[in-house]
Amino acid sequence: MAVIGTGYVGLVAGACFAEMGNKVQCVDIDEEKISKLKSGIIPIYEPGLEPIVKKNYKDGRLKFTTNLGEAVKASEIIFVAVGTPPKTSGEADLFYVERVAREIAANANGYKIVVEKSTVPVQTGEKIAETLKKYSNSAEFDVVSNPEFLREGSAVKDFMEPDRIVIGTDSDRAFAKMVELYKPLNSRIIRTDIKSAEIIKHASNSFLATKISFINAVARICELANADVEKVAEGMGADARIGKQFLNAGVGYGGSCFPKDVQAFIDISSKLGYDFNMLREVEKINKHQRTAFLKKIEGALWVVKGKTIGVLGLAFKPNTDDMREAPAIDIIKGLQEEGAHVKAYDPEAMENAKKLLKGVEYCSSPYEVAKGVDLLIIVTEWDEFKKMDLNKIKSAMAHPTIADGRNIFDPKEMYKKGFNYISMGR
Ligand code: UGA
Repeated sequence: MAVIGTGYVGLVAGACFAEMGNKVQCVDIDEEKISKLKSGIIPIYEPGLEPIVKKNYKDGRLKFTTNLGEAVKASEIIFVAVGTPPKTSGEADLFYVERVAREIAANANGYKIVVEKSTVPVQTGEKIAETLKKYSNSAEFDVVSNPEFLREGSAVKDFMEPDRIVIGTDSDRAFAKMVELYKPLNSRIIRTDIKSAEIIKHASNSFLATKISFINAVARICELANADVEKVAEGMGADARIGKQFLNAGVGYGGSCFPKDVQAFIDISSKLGYDFNMLREVEKINKHQRTAFLKKIEGALWVVKGKTIGVLGLAFKPNTDDMREAPAIDIIKGLQEEGAHVKAYDPEAMENAKKLLKGVEYCSSPYEVAKGVDLLIIVTEWDEFKKMDLNKIKSAMAHPTIADGRNIFDPKEMYKKGFNYISMGR
């Protein structure tokens, strides 16, 4: 089989399929990336990925190549996992998807199952099928939509232990092949038509983003009413119909998926003739969380100009080095615009952050960040921060004020330790 595109989804899927015993060719146009992968250099930090890439490459089950034609010829199942970046309108740019479809068509030498793994707008499957037909001489194709639900930071585990596998196809032959491929995972399989599978992906991500914005709106009400959003979330989440996951209030969602997919779903809906205004509100609340956090910092410092502020956590979530749409970007830029000097530390994302955030003093530990700062903020809830020696942090700071954008500490404990502690929705 072939996986085209070695981004987050493509690389994890390729490595995991190889780990399941398949022969996989991972294809990318980026020669440097492919040669690095061949020498065992993984472009992303993702727990558990490196060992399976190295092992399967060494055992010959996993190959890396820039030769799409050869990979297509050698494979019956071809996963398309290329990027679908947003245009300025929010619409997904399908340039790479279309090009890959043309190249698959031109190189096909028999029956091929073309599987959409990238997140694509509904009706893309139809377009892929048309393109395959248009650019191929005689080969036979089936198109399948098989959206991926893995999360960064737990991608390998999510891939290997999915809650469900969605297989959208009109072809019984392709469905049977896909079921056989996923059999070792022993997971629940949901068969749909292609379009419904495409919508499942956008609807799932938009729903999760809505859940986060909902609890963030509730957090604001809690602040106004002097209540505790953590307790409210506990009480709500205990209802099995609601569930406790994704009810953590804070500085909001970031990453390469939720912001892009919510935007894309609004665009898709509007093109189909439905105004998904509710999702615009989800975005608005998410943006507000960052400005509200900046206001809290201003409130604590009175004047930000000339102050030194320490930032713990830069990545959009823990266990990743990904800085895409990370709340830390807007927050740090906001502080710098106000005239603050910013010191920062993140266990994995500092190399990526350096490309995006200039004028920041990057440090090698939370304690180095804390040294001499007027205020310390927590933007990403890494375990390392939950376990740090707070007495050591306090004595290093010029003033013991912590603004916690992810609610990782208990306010009562923090007051007891002598901190001026500010958090979200409590
Ligand atoms: C998300 C989905 O969870 C995956 O199912 C999906 O496959 C993926 O997008 C994708 O489309 O590729 P991911 O963006 O990796 O995964 O990370 P999440 O764990 O979902 O977190 C997204 C953002 O929401 C993070 O910034 C996180 O801090 C924030 N978040 C999450 C909250 O603010 N509160 C919560 O309660 C949960």
